[in-house]
Amino acid sequence: MHVNVYYMSDLLEIFNILANVYKLIYRLKNMDPKKIKSSNDEFFVPLPIEDFLTGMKAAVDLYVRLSDEKFVLVFKNGLKTEQSQLAAYKEKSIRYLWAKESEYAKMTEHSVVVAGIAVNSDQTTTPQKAKFVSQAATHIFNEFEHIGLTHEVFEQAKLVTNVTVTLVQNHNDLLGLLESMKGSSSELVRHSMAVSALSVVLGMGLGWKNKNTIEKLSLGGLMHDIGLKALPPELICKPKIQMTSEELTIYESHPFKGMEMVMSLGVVPDDIVSIIYEHHENAIGQGFPRRLRNLKMHPLAKVVACADTFVHLVLANVNCPIPKSPREAILYMEHTMGQPFDKEVFKVLRNITSDFPMDLAS
Ligand SMILES: [Fe+2]
Ligand SMILES: [Fe+2]
Repeated sequence: MHVNVYYMSDLLEIFNILANVYKLIYRLKNMDPKKIKSSNDEFFVPLPIEDFLTGMKAAVDLYVRLSDEKFVLVFKNGLKTEQSQLAAYKEKSIRYLWAKESEYAKMTEHSVVVAGIAVNSDQTTTPQKAKFVSQAATHIFNEFEHIGLTHEVFEQAKLVTNVTVTLVQNHNDLLGLLESMKGSSSELVRHSMAVSALSVVLGMGLGWKNKNTIEKLSLGGLMHDIGLKALPPELICKPKIQMTSEELTIYESHPFKGMEMVMSLGVVPDDIVSIIYEHHENAIGQGFPRRLRNLKMHPLAKVVACADTFVHLVLANVNCPIPKSPREAILYMEHTMGQPFDKEVFKVLRNITSDFPMDLAS
């Protein structure tokens, strides 16, 4: 999807909202039904009916649950949800509409786009904007969970936004830099948020407890691809496989460009600069731009590099239109790529993906 939505008009506001969304999701997780298998062996996920009271077009087919395993289609994909019908469901104490799990990603894309439009519209009031943004954020992080990260991981990930908010609040200059992400495609925003969250989770999995370290992982993960903003937009939308060698060279300059951008500010901690510059390096010296080996790589960059690759494989993007399951992604990183990442970091990643529960004890 190459829709340019301007979703990041105020990152700080969004992250404040996200922190609340985490709390909300956490509450819902303990109260709400989980995904349910229908009689046709398809999984359905619940979506609170309040989310649909905005009269927006349904991004996916929406169902009502009739009995334990029976779901009936009530809104077809692309049609506007009928306010009166929704109100009638609410009156019958129906709290959820259901979507097929296989279509959940579409729902996320849709809500991110809607949020982008709303945030940039002069007609939308601030509380409405906040609602759209928080819906988008809920979908992003629900999807993050649906792709197979474990419950524990999800709980840990709540910290991500809190630490990022604190850091940004304490460093006013950083806000300007984050503002430069304004204009990013929704794909890049989603990617950056997921890399940030996963990097924190991996750091904590490595036993790192220092708040500063975790903050740097969070912010470094969020900003690792900031150098893409310095490249021609059409290049970012092009699959790598279709790039000419000149284009590939330009693409591979983004870690350096990112480093230059943050260094020109003079306030960004060196560790974050290293994350940005080294996020495409790997332990066996086959990364770019400097082909560093494990020993030379910054410890935080090792974490973000591994998180970045995993997120590229499990969330749809221009290079990977059909996302892999976490299990497939891990196997791909192990076998196809030859596991080029730091061993300890990769072990944590392998252990936290719920598809490898047998490894949890190791
Ligand atoms: Fe990158
Ligand atoms: Fe990236």
